[in-house]
Order: sequence, then structure tokens, then C-alpha cells
Amino acid sequence: MARYLITGGCGFIGGHLAHALVREGHRVTVLDDLSSGQEDNLPPGADLERGCVTDGARLSVIARQCDGLVHLAAIASVEAAAANPDRAEAVNLGGTRNAVAAARTHGIPLVYASSAAVYGDAGSDPVAETAKCAPLSAYGEHKLKSESAVLTLGPRATIIRPFNVYGPRQHPASPYSGVIARFVSACLAGETITINGEGHQSRDFIYVGDIVRLFLAAMSRDPEAALTVNGCTGQAISILELTRAIAAACGAGLRLRHGPARPGDILHSRGDPQHALDTLGFQAEVRLGDGLTETVAWLRGEDQ
Ligand code: NAD
Ligand code: UD1
Repeated sequence: MARYLITGGCGFIGGHLAHALVREGHRVTVLDDLSSGQEDNLPPGADLERGCVTDGARLSVIARQCDGLVHLAAIASVEAAAANPDRAEAVNLGGTRNAVAAARTHGIPLVYASSAAVYGDAGSDPVAETAKCAPLSAYGEHKLKSESAVLTLGPRATIIRPFNVYGPRQHPASPYSGVIARFVSACLAGETITINGEGHQSRDFIYVGDIVRLFLAAMSRDPEAALTVNGCTGQAISILELTRAIAAACGAGLRLRHGPARPGDILHSRGDPQHALDTLGFQAEVRLGDGLTETVAWLRGEDQ
């Protein structure tokens, strides 16, 4: 049994990770300011420290009790980060620097949630970890600079670059919520959704249960050298095609309109899953149709 600190553990991915760790018999401490997460995402028995990752001293004091640190806390929306650039830099880059300092001080491994946004439109499809990174957004730039900070830890550093994660407990209410949560919720409510631009942009959607397995594999690896891996399926779907898959999963029509393209929106994003398979034995398993069925059930309130 180990004790892990998860920053952002009350969020969508963090909550699922906390449940998985507790199921495996570990202790979990969460540092979260509840800015986008919810306390009820946590499993019974997890300890919540309500606070901000910009407070490096506090983060370090909490990390002192822990055997490993998973750093997820961030303003996770590209648009929300663009709307509040100073705060986004303080949290997404400053918070990571604090996590790195805490991991260094206490000699513990750090698993960092970076993002596929570091690639921008990388020019290769699928995109492997060796591709040149050219982020299109401040969010992506902060993730890339954060990666450099994390890599200074040497072998104890693991960087995961999740592509688009979806599934139960991804909340749809905010205009900055992930596209699947927003579209499923609108479809169930009979509301009209807005596609940014023509909808030909594509994404590699990975189910939250799969991404949690990847984090668990990263947390239990032997730290021989720093590692950076994609969190992806290797499959992509356009946003327009996604609306049809969502309508099928909901068993209802989806009313849509087109709005302007989003500034800084990546056109095509599909990851190469080979390096995660070679290094961590990880492969995504959940098909989009099955993951959408689970998501629809949760948003209908059938699967609390
Ligand atoms: P989320 O918004 O559900 O979770 C983020 C959590 O961090 C929330 O609980 C929030 O309250 C907390 N938080 C935010 N700012 C904080 C601060 N200053 N101090 C303490 N806690 C703070 O987002 P998520 O989808 O679970 O994403 C988790 C991480 O994974 C983020 O770093 C995000 O950038 C990254 N990521 C997410 C996706 C995705 O598709 N969801 C893809 C790639 C990378
Ligand atoms: C998402 C994640 C981000 C992660 C990145 C990795 C969220 C909120 N963002 O960013 O944390 O780092 O993947 O690849 O989870 N769209 C519409 N209409 C809408 C909402 C979105 O057309 O109402 C489109 C967007 O323009 C975009 C696509 O859907 O082309 C996906 O958008 P979004 O879910 O916001 O995710 P990303 O920006 O890809």
C-alpha cells in the first residue's frame, strides 16, 4: 500500500483515478481548489486538502507524506485558458513548477498530465512523441513548458499526453466542458448544439477508464529513465461524424448549427499509440460507441 497525492483529484480524470487507487488498496490525498471539480467525485476514504497549486509551500508540505505525486490540476479547457491568460499561466505552468519542486524535495516520482495540445497541427498523422511540438494555444504552450520543468526530475518523471478524454462524470454544464459531454447533454435535452466551424476537424477520443489504466501503469513503472507517452487510441473521428455517433447512442436526433471556427483550434489530432504499448504495455480497449453508451447512461442518471 502506498499513499499518493493527486492534484486536481476532484476533477473528471482525477476522480476516476482516485477511485481506482482506493480500489487497489492505496491511500489517496487530493489537493484541489474545487474550481471545476467536485468533492463528490472522490471515493470514500480519500483525504481532501482544499487549496491551490500556486501555493508551493502548501503543496510541498502535503507531498512530504506521500510516495508519489500525480499532477492533474489545471485549467483544462483551451478556451478557458485563453479567456484568462494570466491565471492560466499561474495555474498551468506555475502549478507544475511547484509540483516539480515538491517531487524533487521529497525524492518522489511525478506523473504529469500534459496534453496532445503540445503538438498543435504537427503535420504527421498519427502523431508520435518524437514529432516536433508547435502548440497553437497558450494552453498548449504552458503544457509544453511544464513538460520541460518535469523532465528536470530525470528518471522519476513521467509525462502523459492525453488526447481527448471522455466518459461518465465529465460535467457538461460549463461552456468550457469537453465536446462529448456538451453534445450528449444537449441531445438528451433536445437542445441545439453549435459546431465550431464546418466540423471537419477531428479528434482521437479516449475513454476515461482507459486513460486511468495508463496513469496506473505509469505510476507503477520502474523509473529507469524519464518517459513521455501519448494517451490515445490511434483512431480519430470528425466532429461532424461525432454528432451522428452521439445521436445513435442517445436514440434521438441532434439539432445542430454551425458557428465560427474557434481560434487556436487544432484541425486534426490523432495519436500514435505504439510507444505507450512498447514501454508500458498499454493499449486503449473501449470503442467509441461503447464509451458513448456509458456516457449517455451517466448523463441520463442511470449510472451514478
Ligand atoms: P477537470 O477540470 O475536470 O479537473 C481539473 C481539476 O483541477 C478540478 O478538480 C479543479 O477543481 C482542479 N484545479 C483547477 N485549478 C486548480 C488549482 N489552481 N489548484 C488546485 N486545483 C485546481 O479536468 P480534467 O479533464 O480532469 O483534466 C485533468 C488534467 O488532464 C488537466 O491537467 C488537463 O489539462 C489534462 N488533460 C485533460 C484532457 C481531457 O480531454 N479531459 C486531455 C488532455 C489533458
Ligand atoms: C481537449 C481538452 C483539453 C486537452 C485536449 C487534448 C477539454 C475541455 N479539453 O481540448 O484539456 O488538453 O483535448 O487534445 O476536455 N467543439 C464544438 N462545439 C462545442 C465544443 C467543442 O464544435 O460546443 C469542437 C471544438 O472546436 C474542437 C472539438 O470540438 O474542435 C473538441 O473541443 P473540446 O472538447 O473543447 O476539446 P479540445 O479543445 O480538443
